[in-house]
Amino acid sequence: MSRRPMPRIRAKLLPEAITTPAAELVSLAPALEQLREGLGGRPREIPCKYFYDDRGSALFEQITALDEYYPTRTERALIAAQAGQIVEAAGGAQLCDIVELGSGAATKTLPLLTAAGTPRYVAVDISAHALGRTREIIAQARPDVTVETVLADYSRSYELPGKPAQGRRLALFLGGTIGNEEDAEAIEFLTRVREHLESGDTILLGANLVTDPAVIHLAYNDAQGVTAAFNRNVLIAINALAQSRFDPADFDHHAPYDVEKRRIEMWLVARRALEVDLGRMGGTLRLSQGEGIRTEISRRFRRDDVLRLLDAAGFTPDRWFESPDGRFGLGLGRARDALRGL
Ligand code: AVJ
Repeated sequence: MSRRPMPRIRAKLLPEAITTPAAELVSLAPALEQLREGLGGRPREIPCKYFYDDRGSALFEQITALDEYYPTRTERALIAAQAGQIVEAAGGAQLCDIVELGSGAATKTLPLLTAAGTPRYVAVDISAHALGRTREIIAQARPDVTVETVLADYSRSYELPGKPAQGRRLALFLGGTIGNEEDAEAIEFLTRVREHLESGDTILLGANLVTDPAVIHLAYNDAQGVTAAFNRNVLIAINALAQSRFDPADFDHHAPYDVEKRRIEMWLVARRALEVDLGRMGGTLRLSQGEGIRTEISRRFRRDDVLRLLDAAGFTPDRWFESPDGRFGLGLGRARDALRGL
């Protein structure tokens, strides 16, 4: 079997070795600086990647099973229904490698692996816990698939193992996570994905679509309060990272849908005036009662918004798949030569 030499994979861990929270993955000094800047800014902000320590990652998996949280099951059903079409567009028998960014628990990916025969599966996630679950799930359902895990913060630069053979690579960026970024950052992120592909390779991009505001609101305000717990947990993750002294009980979960901006904003709102010791971030955060920290934006797109993002990042939009209820879409883009269009 001929194999190209594999580039070194940074921070690749076996599941047995995984005990680290995301805290140990991000290098500490830049993380503290980013957090300090975010908390001092207007609006006050914590980047949403800090949600995904082990507990946050497990809470997110719980969210995906809630009745109110429609995106995961909608996307899963859409992928299952279109897996043949997707794999065909991604190269059919030529497809040798599926790379998923933000693999999470990877349950949505199985129909693609099945439709594709047995390509290698590369899972990239910021959460060691999530990568452990990915391995478990694939090993259970598809023991014949080779799994590689890469523990990485893909909002920064990251490395991937090389393709195992000549053939096409399919990158997956699912879950609607692209909606956590404004256009500029989303395009930057997709451009970085493009750099890991050769021209002719493809990306499948999952996006939440504009739908009934009441439905969207409920998805981030579930009756059991799992989303609220997930939101507050970011403070526990930050405390672990920075030795700060946030008390999650001092904050209310607030997650309104902004119809005009077409996005959910998640906030943690101070229930009373607070002074929070910021630990290794340095100094004290003073919040008045009712003042908030924004922890996430989660955008809803229209089809053309998604295709425009793909195009801006060097992908020619090739296929569009939409759930029957119109709530979720998948754009398939083909990596084009970097110089085309200049
Ligand atoms: C995993 C980022 C797509 O934005 O809906 C779920 C995260 N936040 N409930 C989303 C999330 C609150 C989720 N993404």
